[in-house]
Amino acid sequence: MRYLLFLHLLGASVWVGGHLVLLFGVLPKALRGRDPQPVRQFEQLYERIGIPALIVQVVTGLWMASLWLPHAQWLGDSPVARLVQGKLLLLGLTALLGLHARLALIPRLDGERLPQLGLHILLITLTAVAFVWVGAGFRFGGLF
Ligand code: HEM
Repeated sequence: MRYLLFLHLLGASVWVGGHLVLLFGVLPKALRGRDPQPVRQFEQLYERIGIPALIVQVVTGLWMASLWLPHAQWLGDSPVARLVQGKLLLLGLTALLGLHARLALIPRLDGERLPQLGLHILLITLTAVAFVWVGAGFRFGGLF
């Protein structure tokens, strides 16, 4: 469990940290210049470490969740089941946002559509931060 949690926290640092840099560091500059190039450049660079980090999150997360609760109880209404459901819901949102960006936004990205991508980056960063909040809930036995 210690090694799983270690990898999970390492992946979380990469995933959340990368998106915060994108949101607060790269995006404002791109919006000011109405130029999607800085975002493109960052995504190309970050993808190579961000996607493996997300995969690590999913594998270690599902593994730890099954140590917390047998699969049959994941859809129950105990406090820990609620946390697992929260993680899975956020994972679904992350996948939808990722697919939407990859298939709909990025291929047709230009200065005009940049604010749309900006909103998208804000949402994915919020889900990343929410992952951390829900994760911390396991230690404290609930969401709040
Ligand atoms: C990018 C996505 C994710 C991030 C940023 C993230 C982040 C975190 C953080 C910061 C913790 C707190 C660990 C602690 O208490 O010290 C945590 C715990 C946990 N996460 Fe995630 N997580 C992510 C995805 C997932 C997924 C997909 C699952 C699958 C169900 C998951 C399951 C868990 C579990 C079971 C714990 C409790 C570990 C423990 O303390 O025993 N996580 N997560």
